[in-house]
Amino acid sequence: MNDRTTRTSRVPSTLEDSDRTATYEAVREQLRSLIADQTDFLANIANFAALLFNSLPRLNWTGFYLLRGSDLVLGPFQGKPACSCIAVGNGVCGTAALRRAAVLVPDVHAFPGHIVCDEASQSEIVIPMFKDGHLIGVLDMDSPVLNRFDDLDREQLERLLQQLMDGTVVPEYRLAPPE
Ligand code: SME
Repeated sequence: MNDRTTRTSRVPSTLEDSDRTATYEAVREQLRSLIADQTDFLANIANFAALLFNSLPRLNWTGFYLLRGSDLVLGPFQGKPACSCIAVGNGVCGTAALRRAAVLVPDVHAFPGHIVCDEASQSEIVIPMFKDGHLIGVLDMDSPVLNRFDDLDREQLERLLQQLMDGTVVPEYRLAPPE
């Protein structure tokens, strides 16, 4: 095995994963300073959507759908205009809200009931956001490439959402009853 072979055989996913982890660490640091002197719900989740959209690669839409009764209503986002209301249980967002668990979709065309908002979207991740056990809504991220999101993204995004909610005051009316 020559030097070149040794190098390329070592490079694959571990290096890439450590780069991605480092990017998420930098995002956590930026989030820390963004919300350090601000606890307002809308200000913080709007900045969070912008921070993710501008920090992470290969995204065409990033934003929130917020729980109102049995619907998810469009919240702060970055990207093209999107559908404004999704019933809990519908689409990827409604499925994640219903399950109260993240949904990773490697190919949106293969997800039954996927709701198209931007034709460019090929893969998607939706993560529920909780405050003190109450479901507040979901974070939705779309990518123009297939298979963009994996468990590393899920773990890091869940951690970021927790950090966001820990530093944010959520208005009473947004707190759905805990399950
Ligand atoms: N694809 C989502 C709808 C929201 S957009 O992607 C912004 C869904 O199926 O729930």
